[in-house]
Amino acid sequence: MTGNRLFNLDTVMVDVVTMVEHLPVHGGDIRASQHVLATGGGFNVMSAAARQEMAATYVGRLGRGAFSQLARSDLEREHIDLAVAPDESQDVGFCLVLVDATGERTFVTAPGAELTLDANALARVEPADGDYVFLSGYCLVHPETGPAIAAWISRLKPGVVVAFDPAPRVLDIAGDLLSAVLARTDWLLLNTAEAVALSGEEDTSDVLEVLLTVSARRGVVVHAGERGCVLATREGGVHDVPGFVVDALDTNGAGDTHDGVFLAELAAGSSPLEAARRANAASALAVERIGPATCPTREEITTFLATRPRQTS
Ligand SMILES: Nc1ncnc2c1ncn2[C@@H]1O[C@H](COP(=O)(O)OP(=O)(O)OP(=O)(O)O)[C@@H](O)[C@H]1O
Ligand SMILES: [Mg+2]
Repeated sequence: MTGNRLFNLDTVMVDVVTMVEHLPVHGGDIRASQHVLATGGGFNVMSAAARQEMAATYVGRLGRGAFSQLARSDLEREHIDLAVAPDESQDVGFCLVLVDATGERTFVTAPGAELTLDANALARVEPADGDYVFLSGYCLVHPETGPAIAAWISRLKPGVVVAFDPAPRVLDIAGDLLSAVLARTDWLLLNTAEAVALSGEEDTSDVLEVLLTVSARRGVVVHAGERGCVLATREGGVHDVPGFVVDALDTNGAGDTHDGVFLAELAAGSSPLEAARRANAASALAVERIGPATCPTREEITTFLATRPRQTS
């Protein structure tokens, strides 16, 4: 494990994924052809970082019950520590996912213990200079936890590196919380649609300029699907970092893999450009694998890159 730690606030919940022909009609009942239970949410970023040998800690609440037990055993298997005591009065929440025959996904989110994270619990978690803190937009949209998390982020020591992935619900975040977090963000990690929404600009160079002005004290990484990503740093300018040509089977969670590997590489001393290249390789390998938490290990990424894989331009 490398010295600098990752503290992740993105909430861990359980995904209950069902494959159905179509959504049930009002008052109906349909049979799923397949189903799977998997620890999700912030688990994927932490497991991606932990597989790069970065020490990862979950700054969030689990609870009591079957879903919490599943999450706890997955976190333990990936050597992820827990910074906050569980809520003994309820289970962690879940997301019911209905995937229909067209591949479209419909969600029902049922929150639980993760939304009882409060300022007192956060005050006991103190990352040191050089440590990394990751949070996503999902941390800020919930009125139960958003204000305490934004306040905690604002009070972090100046040497703590903050990475923020606003995720698709970026426009649902309260303006004051979003501004507070953006002002403290060192690395902004997001996809093209989110970058456009957050900046209010369309043209790539305008988007990057706005994001580097309002946020991103060190830089921005824009995920660009199979094309790889765009890296813009304050000191190093803008780079298109090509992706790798693979048979994409499951792109779910590719962004989480990218975020986790990018941060772990920075923490290990890689340059931002090298970190982005390895994050592209890791997420290309991950989209070839079906299921959650499919990030490869550091060694697997090195082996993949040594085979001189074909890059997208
Ligand atoms: N089809 C693909 N082939 C190769 N690499 C891919 C493919 N799709 C995604 N990637 C890699 O995964 C990274 C993240 O994927 P994407 O651009 O979809 O981000 P995202 O929209 O933030 O993802 P998420 O929906 O998981 O949040 C990309 O930057 C790229 O490196
Ligand atoms: Mg994303």
